[in-house]
Amino acid sequence: LKQPVKVLVTGAAGQIGYAIVPMIARGLMLGLDQPVVLHMLDIPRMADALNGVRMELVDAALPLLRGVVSTTDEAEAFQGVNFAVLIGGWPRKEGMERKDLIAKNVAIYKSQAAALQQHAAPNCKVLVVANPANTNALVLKEFAPAVPARNITCLTRLDHNRALGQIAEKLGVHVGDVRNAVVWGNHSSTQFPDASHATARTEHGERPVRELVADDKWLSEEFVVTVQQRGAAVMKARKQSSSLSAASAACDHMRDWILGTPKGTWVSMGVYSDGSYGVPDGIFYSFPVTCEKGEWSIVQGEFLLFCQVDSNGSTTFS
Ligand code: NAI
Repeated sequence: LKQPVKVLVTGAAGQIGYAIVPMIARGLMLGLDQPVVLHMLDIPRMADALNGVRMELVDAALPLLRGVVSTTDEAEAFQGVNFAVLIGGWPRKEGMERKDLIAKNVAIYKSQAAALQQHAAPNCKVLVVANPANTNALVLKEFAPAVPARNITCLTRLDHNRALGQIAEKLGVHVGDVRNAVVWGNHSSTQFPDASHATARTEHGERPVRELVADDKWLSEEFVVTVQQRGAAVMKARKQSSSLSAASAACDHMRDWILGTPKGTWVSMGVYSDGSYGVPDGIFYSFPVTCEKGEWSIVQGEFLLFCQVDSNGSTTFS
């Protein structure tokens, strides 16, 4: 077994937090041979609930779990962490304007940026899940200038996995046989799920999804809207937002980033734009990426696309 690494989960007393901590402690994020020390942060009002999660982790008798720090103090939470999954944030309440939500979260992410820069291990890798994820990631980057921008990412893997799931259902194939969909843009209804380069393994070999579906309208309309609206559909059915799928996607994101993407496979990650595909640089944006040795790179040359992002974050391709 390797030396233990420290993994921070913020918002650990929340829905996604509750789903993700056992996944991390079972090796689903960093590997079955990687012991972990979990650092869990939440706000003081949630201290009892957070302690309850800590008690359950003890009760689960997880062999890879080498320690738990549960705290409401940011400095303690970020101390020495190698990986940080930032799920904690201000939830959008009914009647709340987007700008108010952003203002609340800017304050939180500004303060966590300082803690990250001051207390985390060098080269700490960060995944922002809390919404608005792209904006929170940007705030973190701006206020933690000593942290390399490539170490800060945000989650669009849930949307990517939803796209794979929809294609698998449509074709009646196993989801593990579908790959190379892309989610462009933001984690929100303005994202653009793109199956133009997706493939599926069939008994006749690996074939483009475009050919197998043979229904352009489904791919360009129903598929796109279903993936964009999936969060709302789950919310309507469950009366709560997606948590197990979000937690699972966050594990997939980190695992592929750290341990590498399979050969010939790309995944979607929100990363700091370098201007690829005409996306403005200096924003966090979801691209197709491959990962090797703990570094992501944007897939180049596969897409003959040029995209434009308007002031609302909407993407159009030409
Ligand atoms: P939740 O409300 O159940 O949990 C959020 C937790 O964060 C709460 O326990 C809260 O006390 C805590 N928190 C608030 N401020 C904090 C701070 N300053 N420091 C540490 N913890 C803090 O929400 P849920 O369902 O777990 O979702 C969490 C976030 O993830 C939301 O912002 C949600 O919109 C976002 N999300 C993002 C997805 C993505 O694909 N990017 C998918 C699903 C959810």
